[in-house]
Amino acid sequence: MQSDRVAQLAHDDLTPRCVDSLSGGLGGKANRTRRECSMGVVDLFKSAFDQLGGRFWLDRIDEASCNVMGKRGMLYKAFLFAQINQVPGDYLEFGVHRGDSFLMAHRMKRRFRLDQMKLWGFDSFAGLPEIDDANDNTWSEGQYACSLEQVSRRLARNGIRPHEYELVCGYYDRSLNEDTRTKLCGRQAAVVYIDCDLYSSTLLALDFVKAYLGNGTIVCFDDFYHYRGAPDQGEQRALSEFLQHNNGYTFIPWTDFAPVGKSFIARIGALRH
Ligand SMILES: C[S@@+](CC[C@H](N)C(=O)[O-])C[C@H]1O[C@@H](n2cnc3c(N)ncnc32)[C@H](O)[C@@H]1O
Repeated sequence: MQSDRVAQLAHDDLTPRCVDSLSGGLGGKANRTRRECSMGVVDLFKSAFDQLGGRFWLDRIDEASCNVMGKRGMLYKAFLFAQINQVPGDYLEFGVHRGDSFLMAHRMKRRFRLDQMKLWGFDSFAGLPEIDDANDNTWSEGQYACSLEQVSRRLARNGIRPHEYELVCGYYDRSLNEDTRTKLCGRQAAVVYIDCDLYSSTLLALDFVKAYLGNGTIVCFDDFYHYRGAPDQGEQRALSEFLQHNNGYTFIPWTDFAPVGKSFIARIGALRH
């Protein structure tokens, strides 16, 4: 009877260690102790694995194996593209919040030795504006608020020097104005990162940034496939309306990233076919 049970357990693909502890006489005190001991070791191993960040690394392996490129990977690729193709210009980010992607961009600027590149961040630093579009209903007014002072302190703590960047504070309908254009006078964009969530904000950002696009500028949209990928909502809608009204610009689809992001290579003027 007991040997039948052992055969069954072995058939069920138990490890030799378990089979051994069961076959040696269920009820034997020494074997029970051995089994409890080995269970303890397993638990200890699991807990050490967790404490050493094992799950964090498993998550990274999952992401790598299904080939998900995150924001950092996207920025890495965009800055590398700018370096290899010698696309001159700055980094312009619309939607800074606490500065996470801004800090990643700064890291890439240093890594690829783009010494002349300046980083520009455009944000209200008071969160999302009033949301008047029935389509933009997954966010709320004031969401992502983080003050200019807090963000500036964080950037300084992370080693960004004042001459490397400029933050333009205010809602886009007012802050993307002639004064801001004067600050950017003569500059060009190598990489643009649009992460301002809303259809209306994205449209304002695109309308402002078009003057700084050149051949090879990489334009990334962090939430392009939000709203289950609906083409008539959010950033996707803003881009298609922008292209309808601005004949001189072509956006060549380039890289999908993160869960819902997409980037494009901007081309100015007619394409040679
Ligand atoms: C999702 S957060 C940006 C996240 C950031 N890129 C990061 O990686 O952490 C969106 C930001 O867009 C800003 N924003 C959206 N619409 C805006 C507008 N019309 N004017 C100014 N800022 C706006 C919000 O204040 C918010 O900080």
